[in-house]
Amino acid sequence: MPAFAALRQFPSSDPTSETRVAVTPRKTRPRSDSDAAIGSPLRKSPRLLKESTPHGSPTANIRKCLKSSLNLSGSPQKKQLSEERQNWNPRVDGTQRRAVNEALHVSTAPANAVCRENEQNRILDFCKKCVKEEKAGSLYVCGCPGTGKTLSMEKVKVMLADWANEECVQYPDVLPINCTSLANMNDIFSKILEQNHPGKKRSRSTSSLQQLQNLYSQQTPGMKMILVIADELDYLITRDRAVLHDLFMLTTLPFSRCILLGVANAIDLADRFIPKLRSLNCKPMVITFCAYSKDQIINILQERLRALPYTVFQPQALELCARKVAAASGDMRKALAVCRSAIEMLIGDSTLSSLNGTEDHQKPAANDSVSSQVRIDHVAAALSKVYKSPVVDTIISLPQHQQIMLCSAVKLFRGGKKKDTTLGELNKYYVEVCKSTLIPPVGILELSSMCRVLDDQGILKLGQSRDDKLRRVTLKVDGADIVFALQGVRFFRNCLQ
Ligand SMILES: Nc1ncnc2c1ncn2[C@@H]1O[C@H](COP(=O)(O)OP(=O)(O)O)[C@@H](O)[C@H]1O
Ligand SMILES: [Mg+2]
Repeated sequence: MPAFAALRQFPSSDPTSETRVAVTPRKTRPRSDSDAAIGSPLRKSPRLLKESTPHGSPTANIRKCLKSSLNLSGSPQKKQLSEERQNWNPRVDGTQRRAVNEALHVSTAPANAVCRENEQNRILDFCKKCVKEEKAGSLYVCGCPGTGKTLSMEKVKVMLADWANEECVQYPDVLPINCTSLANMNDIFSKILEQNHPGKKRSRSTSSLQQLQNLYSQQTPGMKMILVIADELDYLITRDRAVLHDLFMLTTLPFSRCILLGVANAIDLADRFIPKLRSLNCKPMVITFCAYSKDQIINILQERLRALPYTVFQPQALELCARKVAAASGDMRKALAVCRSAIEMLIGDSTLSSLNGTEDHQKPAANDSVSSQVRIDHVAAALSKVYKSPVVDTIISLPQHQQIMLCSAVKLFRGGKKKDTTLGELNKYYVEVCKSTLIPPVGILELSSMCRVLDDQGILKLGQSRDDKLRRVTLKVDGADIVFALQGVRFFRNCLQ
């Protein structure tokens, strides 16, 4: 997967340089251990928030604003609505800032978990079937971190309760377990046992697992079904995966009352342990949560921002965020982190320019709502905080003529028709770019030695030939990384457009 760049402080002396960054998609970690860093556990659903949030809180404000905007109808009011939407000014309005931060906070449960309806319905159908037939069963959910698994389980829980209410079906006892919080892996069995037989004295000689196995092997009249939602199942992986096997096998015992929903980040775990379970006649249904695509990320972000009565992001800015996050990992937590950080950039940017009295005259006036919106460069700077890439870092710190040459190479290879070229042809593109930016080009010999330097750095490959002009040049890094690294400088941006 290509590394890619975002904006970060450009070290060259070029006055046109702006803030820029570097990004390398990090390998997806099997466990969402960044959860803690990025956010706290899910807050209450908006339904619950309605009851518990005090008036005047950001959420209450969002709702109030939304309500008032939705109540508007007729043309004069419509005009008012559009004016209201434009009145976004986070520099002066702390309430707006807090409202946006909350809407984009990873711990704020969204009203709708869009783009996961299909997965949620499949999980819900599975649960309904088990509950209706009073039959134990197991389901295994897997997907990379930040793909909405935990969120979807929360939604399914609520939907199942609503359904049970409507259908007058007995709702099972729900036991949510985050496996990361277990001091000991086997504690999962004591928790299930406690849920099934609350307060019953435990035998010291037999383990909780054995007691559960006994319990589910004989009929116990009146014992309720329980729905175990075991999240972060990865923490129960042992070399022989015995705990996981024992857990899933509980659902196959003749009088088992356990509906098990196991949620894991490791996608390959299923391949490793499900065949063994199958051979033991335990066949959990498997649902995979794929990484979010660019369009899904845009959709989710727009949905989360919909409740706000103002437009916070320029569409291109949201798109850049979604494109980069989708290309890196499809992790929604990262997309939210980038958006929140971009808002900080916007606020920092405007504070700085007003302090220095250096408002950029090319940008729209400060009181224009568009100037208050998050732009591509804010998102690019935010991406740099969330991701890092040595490739882009290197390109960012190259001397200007080497950057111009890379910019020319990107133009030349654009469209993917050509994979390599000659130094002579590259020189033509290079001279053209120099002319358009009024920078005097270096000669072909110097260009050839610049290519050698870039070859040493692994950025391109320079072939052998007696005639310099005929030496073959191939890019060794992704063109997108070059574009990303250079897009913070206005003249490169224009030239690459
Ligand atoms: N479909 C979605 N709609 C809105 N927000 C989402 C969606 N998917 C993920 N998120 C946000 O990303 C956060 C991380 O998702 P989570 O369900 O914890 O991922 P996972 O459990 O797969 O690691 C959620 O708390 C939520 O704020
Ligand atoms: Mg999770």
